[in-house]
Amino acid sequence: MRTLLVILALITVAITPPFMAAQKVELTVDVSKAGAKIDRNIFGQFAEHLGHGVYEGIWVGPGSPIPNTRGIRNDVVAALKAIKAPNVRWPGGCFADEYHWRKGIGSQRPETLNPNWGGVIEPNTFGTHEFMDFLDQIGAEAYLSVNVGSGTPQEAAEWLEYLTTAQPTALAKERAANGHPAPYKIAYLGIGNESWDCGGNMTPDYYLSQLKIYSRFVRNFNPAQQDKQRMLKIAVGPGGGEPRFTEWTEAVMKAYQNHQWSWDIDGLSLHSYTVVRWPPAYASVGFGEKEYSQILKSTLEMEGLVSKYSAMMDKYDPQKKVALAVDEWGAWYAPLPGSNPGFLVQQNSLRDAILAALNLNIFVRHADRVRMANIAQMINVLQAMILTDKEKMVLTPTYYVYKMYVPFQDATFVPVTFNAGAYTHGEITLPHLDAIAAKDRAGRLWVEITNIDPNQPVEIEVSLVGVTPKSAAGETLTASKVDSVNSFEASNTVVPKPISAKVQGGKLALKLEPKSVTVISVEQ
Ligand code: AHR
Repeated sequence: MRTLLVILALITVAITPPFMAAQKVELTVDVSKAGAKIDRNIFGQFAEHLGHGVYEGIWVGPGSPIPNTRGIRNDVVAALKAIKAPNVRWPGGCFADEYHWRKGIGSQRPETLNPNWGGVIEPNTFGTHEFMDFLDQIGAEAYLSVNVGSGTPQEAAEWLEYLTTAQPTALAKERAANGHPAPYKIAYLGIGNESWDCGGNMTPDYYLSQLKIYSRFVRNFNPAQQDKQRMLKIAVGPGGGEPRFTEWTEAVMKAYQNHQWSWDIDGLSLHSYTVVRWPPAYASVGFGEKEYSQILKSTLEMEGLVSKYSAMMDKYDPQKKVALAVDEWGAWYAPLPGSNPGFLVQQNSLRDAILAALNLNIFVRHADRVRMANIAQMINVLQAMILTDKEKMVLTPTYYVYKMYVPFQDATFVPVTFNAGAYTHGEITLPHLDAIAAKDRAGRLWVEITNIDPNQPVEIEVSLVGVTPKSAAGETLTASKVDSVNSFEASNTVVPKPISAKVQGGKLALKLEPKSVTVISVEQ
């Protein structure tokens, strides 16, 4: 009998699921202390002529049976409006350094090639006017990348004159004849792209001589952009942590410190993908906890890069006039089997939602220097917000993070202190938690908490210095597996659900699911 009881006890232990007691973590949000403004441009997008990012993703043409406005998909426009996309970087990427804007205006558009991305035909049907129309439809600002690699300063200067002058020049008349008499607003100008690599493999000195010329002559003539609204110019900066990028950043920032009246910059770009190693080999679907923890470990290296380059910039620009623009970032995985490898097609899972939240939180904590960031890329390419297949559209887990973070756009950073704890898988140890807080322009407090641990829930107690909470509620994003995705067949697998906190003794209490992103607002 005793033996039987022992056996039964052993069987019970074996079939009982692992103990899932929630860890307890205290968060202190000090509302009495305000930090930097979180520039809404941190939530910027990137649309390159690459794969189905532009063609099919944005542009279907006016004759398409897919509902569209002047050729631009209505479903995509509505989705991007809902996340208040602040700016879109276009037309590349590597593509920008081979783009000749004249081929994308007027009624005769030549077919050209896209040698960087699969060598496919570039029809040029989506050009300058279509891009500006798209921005107008979604309510975003233009971030144009001009061709420094294979173009000329004259070509870029004429593009900007064509876009922005209010004077009746030949280029302005051509713009009017093409349907837009009023000057366009161009908020941001990227001078080259990865000029140390696909943009022409330039040395820092060679790039600097180009930068000075483009900065001087590529002018914005829009009368409404001559003062506070002036166009901001972004120079090519580092592309990771290698020593050559230290040298590059030092050279550009040193030149900026000593710059003459004739040229200037307002931003320095940083490109950094979560890839672990090149060529990209991690699968975007069908992975487990090992790959989840490895990718998140790799993505957290963004903190080191931003800190390193911010410190370097502080040396030459202590007043922080030059923004660090992380204008290409995101997860870069192996192409989906069966897709054109030049189209950079990947799925987007709950892991990507967590990855996005962790990076956005890094940018927010560095909001005094990081005033722009553009996830790569907006639709159908790399870590996309949106996937399309003919008339079908699906919103990715990353999209929902951007939607949940809308209240942080232009909000004021509020410090949060907490013991992040640890989550360990094999040899990898990551923080269990991450969190940020901010006050929006109406004075409402928002708190974001990411539970990185894919197995353990966490009980959070939030103390608010300077505020007596009445209630708090918001949304939480999670799913059953780390690699759960939204597909065309099942588009609501990873979608935010309502969550609310209890008020206990002047503190907020809420329980967070494992592998989740949660945003709540506090009623005071
Ligand atoms: O986003 C894809 C490519 O990555 C861009 O074209 C290039 O700038 C970077 O190397």
